[in-house]
Amino acid sequence: MKKSGNVTPWEVSGDIDYKKLLKEFGTTAISDDIREKLNKCHPLIRRGLYFSHRDFDKWLDAKSKGKRVSVITGRGPSEKMHLGHLVPFLVAKSLQDEFGCEVFIPISDDEKFYVKDKLSFEDAVKFSEDNILDLIALGFDPKKTFIFEDFVYTDIYKYAAQIAKKITYSTAKASFGLKPENNIGWSFYPAMQAAHILFPQFYRGKHISVVPVGIDQDPFIRLTRDVASAKEFDFEKPAALHSKFFPSLKGGAKMSSSEGTMITLGDTPKEVERKIKKFAFSGGKETIEEHRKKGGNPDIDVSFQYLKFIFEEDDAKLAEIYKKYKSGEMLTSELKKILIDKINVFLKKHQKRKREAKGKLGKFLLK
Ligand code: TRP
Repeated sequence: MKKSGNVTPWEVSGDIDYKKLLKEFGTTAISDDIREKLNKCHPLIRRGLYFSHRDFDKWLDAKSKGKRVSVITGRGPSEKMHLGHLVPFLVAKSLQDEFGCEVFIPISDDEKFYVKDKLSFEDAVKFSEDNILDLIALGFDPKKTFIFEDFVYTDIYKYAAQIAKKITYSTAKASFGLKPENNIGWSFYPAMQAAHILFPQFYRGKHISVVPVGIDQDPFIRLTRDVASAKEFDFEKPAALHSKFFPSLKGGAKMSSSEGTMITLGDTPKEVERKIKKFAFSGGKETIEEHRKKGGNPDIDVSFQYLKFIFEEDDAKLAEIYKKYKSGEMLTSELKKILIDKINVFLKKHQKRKREAKGKLGKFLLK
């Protein structure tokens, strides 16, 4: 079988065939049955950016029986955050809203320091502090949300050490595609991320946690599930919810960070407008006459995807936009205008909350 692009935690390239990935990784497609069990099913799950899972049915089942469940997902702080980075956290927040569960958010400043050649130690720390404010600004419940930085919350090291002892070098090498020229930080880091994923159980005792995460992170999930049941730990295997890659403005698979491919959370209304007008890949036709006659293609239009997955929660309104754009009644400039306004409303609120987040750090950070 031909591989579906190249997908590892530290490298994503080629055309990605998500159906094949399900098979290659041995994960399960998210069924309508699962979607129906969520009352406040976030558009990211409802409309399919989340497409795959491991044991999420067990997580839901445990919750429905009144057992403890939790959510854990992390952030590698290598830069300022952009819209694509929000994907796992929006879902974590919606699960917290619906189920009242605790959310754990590790910040892997060590990971990004190891794997990004040009990232200095000081910058890794700086981005970590900045990104934490963005995460707090999303509105997590301070009583039920725990954020910790690897470089600061060093308790995590003792858990990582216990896990590291259970993983051989050859397993790490095969699971993560380690190369001879990689520094040895890369080979230890998987134990750290496994410690993150098991942290809710180290902290609260045995229970099932779910990890909403990009599908590229699944090697960490697999590894962690393998060590979870070791007799020293006797933990539940963590569940996972896997997303596809959020499209960049230009339509590429992973929202990478070169100019024009992303909207950062700090962008001004003018920057948002400029980037979307200039870069957002359009499913519209070359000329207005042709567009009116033949209609646009919302399925490949990036502005439409952004509305679909994040910014237009109302199904009826989204369907209306889809219909009008496809028939040619709505022009690309009009579609873009809807998105620009939505993003700017979101960012205005986000930026205000981010300023306020500074005063709330103590409520969220584990020390
Ligand atoms: N490695 C993840 C990334 O680069 C970030 C991360 C750190 C993470 N710890 C985690 C994700 C635990 C899920 C669970 O984006």
